[in-house]
Amino acid sequence: MNAVTVSERGAERILSGHPWVYRSDVARAEGLEPGAAVSVFDRRRRWLGQALFSNQSQIALRMMTRERRPIDRAFLAARIAAAAAYRKQVVEDSNAYRMIASEGDVLPSLIVDRYVEALVIQTHSQGMERLKPQIVEILQEQFAPRAIVERNESAVRALEGLPEVKGVLAGEMTSEVFAEMNGVKFIFDLLNGQKTGGFLDQRENYAAARSYAHGRALDAFSYAGGFALTLASRCESVLAVESSADAIARARRNQGLNGIPNVAWKEANCFDFLKAADQAKEQFDTIVLDPPPFARQKSNLSSALRGYKELNLRALKMLRPGGYLITCSCSFHVSEADFLEAVAAAALDAHCTAVVVERRTQARDHPIVLTVPETHYLKCLILRAY
Ligand SMILES: C[S@@+](CC[C@H](N)C(=O)[O-])C[C@H]1O[C@@H](n2cnc3c(N)ncnc32)[C@H](O)[C@@H]1O
Repeated sequence: MNAVTVSERGAERILSGHPWVYRSDVARAEGLEPGAAVSVFDRRRRWLGQALFSNQSQIALRMMTRERRPIDRAFLAARIAAAAAYRKQVVEDSNAYRMIASEGDVLPSLIVDRYVEALVIQTHSQGMERLKPQIVEILQEQFAPRAIVERNESAVRALEGLPEVKGVLAGEMTSEVFAEMNGVKFIFDLLNGQKTGGFLDQRENYAAARSYAHGRALDAFSYAGGFALTLASRCESVLAVESSADAIARARRNQGLNGIPNVAWKEANCFDFLKAADQAKEQFDTIVLDPPPFARQKSNLSSALRGYKELNLRALKMLRPGGYLITCSCSFHVSEADFLEAVAAAALDAHCTAVVVERRTQARDHPIVLTVPETHYLKCLILRAY
């Protein structure tokens, strides 16, 4: 039997509901193959559960279950079926969504996104990489997708000693996929788009933002136009600003596909754009801010908070009374409380009273596990300004 003994601190972590055990908390792990499924014990040989082992990552163990049943095909098939059944309950108005969300579906380090009839898979640990062939077979059996694409280019793979790879694992994927979210069509390039093709975690926030949007709108950091194109039906005009020419080209194609006339795209650095627009005394009724993560590490937290304050200050200064700010942070290290504080400081400096209309997070197909703070990474506040 593959067995690992963990320190007291490692055991406490498992018992507190967190699936990761760090290398420094592994007391004994001998003769184990990379990615092996292992039984986990404390120093007194008490059973703690089963995990996937990594011989390279700082996260040495990822707990799969507290039970004694084998991590075999039937185990994986049941977890995958449960994840898909949950999506049937919570995904509305969309044929693009996250079907398996790693820790959120008790399948740590496995991501599977569904884009209409195609699936995109990511395996972020040695253990899931080892299980990948079985997982691909199960996905084929349960969902009969047109194609299964692998997007394993994430930097976390290097920490596991795994190569960066992308390609088609099953079926055929020669073209882009046309999906629909909240009644708006989007083209997804599953082999070349950011992440697995798009930012699916904002899907419910697009629809929420639309219910408040009006007048002249600004979508800053617009990528392929997820917010801009969803808000357009409620606004006189939308200006979408993004620094990536590729993203704007994609956004324009999405616009054409939907025949939406009132969105204009601007290729620019949003920080420069917002500064210039503020100085030119531009005004908007609806502003979306969805920047890339400012704090990729905990050590960046204070500069990240200054960044969020600055960005939100510019936006709030340009918001007309009665206007809405939809402001997001996808930095895990910035808690919702930190983010609220940064935006509150911005509102004070902007001399505006901001009412919190909604405190939102990632879409429900990206579940948050109560005992795993890392699973709550996206913050989205909808504020009304007075
Ligand atoms: C979190 S994504 C936005 C996702 C988008 N709101 C959506 O829902 O699809 C951040 C975007 O900001 C862009 N970006 C990064 N730095 C930028 C900058 N300084 N100015 C403008 N855009 C930037 C990235 O190219 C990326 O598309």
